Amino acid sequence: KYPQEIQLDGQSYKTDEWTNVPPYILELTKRQLHQNPNHPIGILRDLIQSNFKDLGYTFYNNFKPAVTTVENFDILGFPQDHPGRSKSDTYYLNKTHLLRTHTSAHEHECFLDCKTPGYFITADVYRRDEIDRTHYPAFHQMEGARIWSKDTPNFEEQLVKDIESIPKTNIIVEDPVRDAPTHPGNPKQDYMTEKQAQLISIHLKKTIEFLVHNVFETARESAKLAGSTEPYLNEPLKVRWVEAYFPWTSPSFEIEVWWKGEWLECCGSGIVNQQVLLNAGLTDDKLGWAFGIGLDRIAMLLFGIPDIRLFWSLDERFSLQFQQGKIATFVPYSKYPGIDRDISFWLPGDSVLHENDVMEYVRSHAGDLAESVVLIDEFVHPKTGKKSQCYRINYQSMDRSLTRDEINVIHSKVENDLVDNFDVSIR
Ligand code: PHE
Repeated sequence: KYPQEIQLDGQSYKTDEWTNVPPYILELTKRQLHQNPNHPIGILRDLIQSNFKDLGYTFYNNFKPAVTTVENFDILGFPQDHPGRSKSDTYYLNKTHLLRTHTSAHEHECFLDCKTPGYFITADVYRRDEIDRTHYPAFHQMEGARIWSKDTPNFEEQLVKDIESIPKTNIIVEDPVRDAPTHPGNPKQDYMTEKQAQLISIHLKKTIEFLVHNVFETARESAKLAGSTEPYLNEPLKVRWVEAYFPWTSPSFEIEVWWKGEWLECCGSGIVNQQVLLNAGLTDDKLGWAFGIGLDRIAMLLFGIPDIRLFWSLDERFSLQFQQGKIATFVPYSKYPGIDRDISFWLPGDSVLHENDVMEYVRSHAGDLAESVVLIDEFVHPKTGKKSQCYRINYQSMDRSLTRDEINVIHSKVENDLVDNFDVSIR
């Protein structure tokens, strides 16, 4: 099913039993939407970078998506049985290389390379997932990190000064989180004092609050400019901190932002485990924090984009609406009608077939033309005990009308794949 070798960014990867990255995902790696100054993702990246440009950060935007399992998992202390490592969650080029599932995969090289106190990494990341309005197997993250040396003269006073130099916001922090990281499952690390852990946590939280404040204030401004008069647009922004767990930070936190009547999970973060810094080649006096924020969902709010798939559209009616430095509200253009096709079959013996498996086959032939796959009917024959399933596939394009003929070709490829791989008999 896969070629002997996969070529990506000038490297060649020998495929093996771990390979599961389909060609249409490899195609997405070429798009680099975050590098495009006139694309919503690129505009959001620019906006955040401009808020941090005078605060001592280096910006890394050019990392290629193929990384090793060591970089994506081992260096960060992921246990061997962590679900993130499984083939059902992650796109593998082969046993040793994969498409990064998060920007944290590059922390180690930046910790070593960075000449400023902190850095930001923006990149496309990949996770096997369902596809709907808010999920797509490719999305974007921005990683931030900041490091100090414990040997700095008057270190704790310096931390206080650094906290004071973070621009103030009028954000309301609801249920202020315990600044002392004392939770048993989320402990302070032994190599720093309680006071140091506390100050670094405060620095981390204030930095993220500043980031979130800038982004959401911009979102409000653009909503108001677009004529919205909803009352929440005039209330101060409300956030709350909740405890979180990541294999490479301790303690860990997550910020949630109150937006349109619900708490939005926004950004995971924490104090970097010393072992990660040592793995990166730093000396044992270093300590600091890291966070990772997803850009796509925020860009959807900021630009009023109703469907995450639109980011990948090549239609000029999408791309011409956005310009560097401007937060414009997306004006929807007419949607083309979709085409429904059903597929019914008997499953052999006790085999199991999941909607996600069917989705994967449909996507491999239809790419972004697959709008949805739904199991609409299932029953077991009372005499033979065989299971019958019926899936409804909706094919739709964001950019053009589909022809019956092209859908017929795609749909029969899907049928053939199911017959070949699952030994089903089409009804
Ligand atoms: N990489 C994490 C994620 O993808 C976010 C994170 C980054 C958490 C850095 C802690 C520190 O969810």
